[in-house]
Amino acid sequence: MQKITIAIDGFSSTGKSTIAKQLAKSLGYIYVDTGAMYRAVTLFAMRNGFVGTENTNIGALVKLLPKINLKFVYNDALGFAEMYLNNENVEKEIRTLEVSRNVSQVATIEEVRYKLVDMQKKMGVEKGIVMDGRDIGTVVFPDAELKLFMTASAEKRATRRYKELLDKGDKVTFKEVLKNVEQRDYTDSHREFSPLKLADDAIEFDNSDMGLEEQFERILNYSQRVIDKQ
Ligand code: DC
Repeated sequence: MQKITIAIDGFSSTGKSTIAKQLAKSLGYIYVDTGAMYRAVTLFAMRNGFVGTENTNIGALVKLLPKINLKFVYNDALGFAEMYLNNENVEKEIRTLEVSRNVSQVATIEEVRYKLVDMQKKMGVEKGIVMDGRDIGTVVFPDAELKLFMTASAEKRATRRYKELLDKGDKVTFKEVLKNVEQRDYTDSHREFSPLKLADDAIEFDNSDMGLEEQFERILNYSQRVIDKQ
């Protein structure tokens, strides 16, 4: 059967990666979390003191971009691919609120986007891929056969994210998490280069009041119909 490309975009904490992982598993497709790539570059920038301090130095980060090696390594036990930054597994470190606070800024840098989008396009040449992010249906795969745009209210999303962070042992308050969600919404959708926006041919999916099972069933059905039409 012909394989397709599935692009999933949307605001932060709308469950993009959950549905993307479920779809990839059930269709036997590759899953790529592009947010992890922006987060890994952000971690690199933070470790070098280029962001997250008073002396932001975007120029220095851009200069060192060729020295940043990113790869996904599949972890059998976890059932998904983990992010490696210069051969170090950074999967846990890139998910902290610290990185979330700086990632939107790093994601506005044109050179960073150029490097990562190029890598992402190459990963998708053979189709059979589910990729999630902010610009997948608009920039990375404008010809994707299926484009989804996930939304949910900021409060619902912050509640989900807050629970996740607490479960991981991060000491955060709900207010901080909500503020981060709202700030990222704003920066992600107002930046100059490939801002988050609904592609003309994307299907908008609001899951504020929908359970994970129902969401998966509906989207999988829809994907099957698109695949059958190829
Ligand atoms: O999906 P996430 O929350 O892990 O993404 C982290 C940040 O990376 C998000 O605030 C915006 C940015 N991002 C982006 O600009 N483009 C993408 N394709 C994926 C993520």
